[in-house]
Amino acid sequence: MNQHVKPYHKQGEGKKQEVEQMFDNIAHRYDFLNHLLSAGIDKLWRKRAIKFIQPYKPHRMMDMATGTGDFAIDAANLLEVKEIVALDLSEEMLAVGRSKVNAKKYEHIEFVKGDSEHMAYQDNSFDAMTAGFGVRNFENLEKGLSEMFRVLKPGAPLVILEVSQPENNLLKALFSVYFKGILPLIGRLFSKDHRAYTYLPESVEAFPKGQDFVDILKKVGFTNAKFKPLTLGICAMYTCEK
Ligand SMILES: C[S@@+](CC[C@H](N)C(=O)[O-])C[C@H]1O[C@@H](n2cnc3c(N)ncnc32)[C@H](O)[C@@H]1O
Repeated sequence: MNQHVKPYHKQGEGKKQEVEQMFDNIAHRYDFLNHLLSAGIDKLWRKRAIKFIQPYKPHRMMDMATGTGDFAIDAANLLEVKEIVALDLSEEMLAVGRSKVNAKKYEHIEFVKGDSEHMAYQDNSFDAMTAGFGVRNFENLEKGLSEMFRVLKPGAPLVILEVSQPENNLLKALFSVYFKGILPLIGRLFSKDHRAYTYLPESVEAFPKGQDFVDILKKVGFTNAKFKPLTLGICAMYTCEK
């Protein structure tokens, strides 16, 4: 189901190609819209997720689907990590990320164009991994998660953030008005992409949530998989270990 929800519904193009094109299109406005549409709460969610990683004291980590690099930058600020591979499919998103980290403080962040489903890294090579709002966009979710599992060292932590929906019916209805009605209008106005911010609620709706996603993490091989709703359930934090 998830893989059939695509940004542009073009004939003959896979989800991956369309997702890459969409993020290339909106890269110049991504950070502005992200912080505007979440009222800045996305920054707190990433910091919260990094707190989960902190006790593992990683030396080498990956930020999967890094986009413009905010998770990687937070990791560099909050962890004593020696190397951060910030990987993403979209060259334009990476270019914005690179422009944000030219200070010496961040020279251990390496922005790499890559695909979660086929990574050029050896088995057991990372001490930790973060993934913010990216896995929902994978063409083949289980393949991407299996690759993430493969490159992590045994016992290494993975934390995933994804947009979700409140459990409470009233909140869910209010959130839906914002998410499906207001957000796409603002998104379209500023990004000039007619589909990106309509694809967002569509892809969230189609994506497995809560225990369903935890079950997929376990199926792929992760242990201690758990989820925690954040901010009334509009974001979900998934934690697990290889
Ligand atoms: C919503 S952005 C999230 C960016 C950032 N992690 C954040 O927290 O704001 C999703 C990112 O996932 C990337 N992405 C989607 N599919 C991917 C894949 N198969 N491999 C690597 N990156 C992918 C997109 O290019 C996009 O930059």
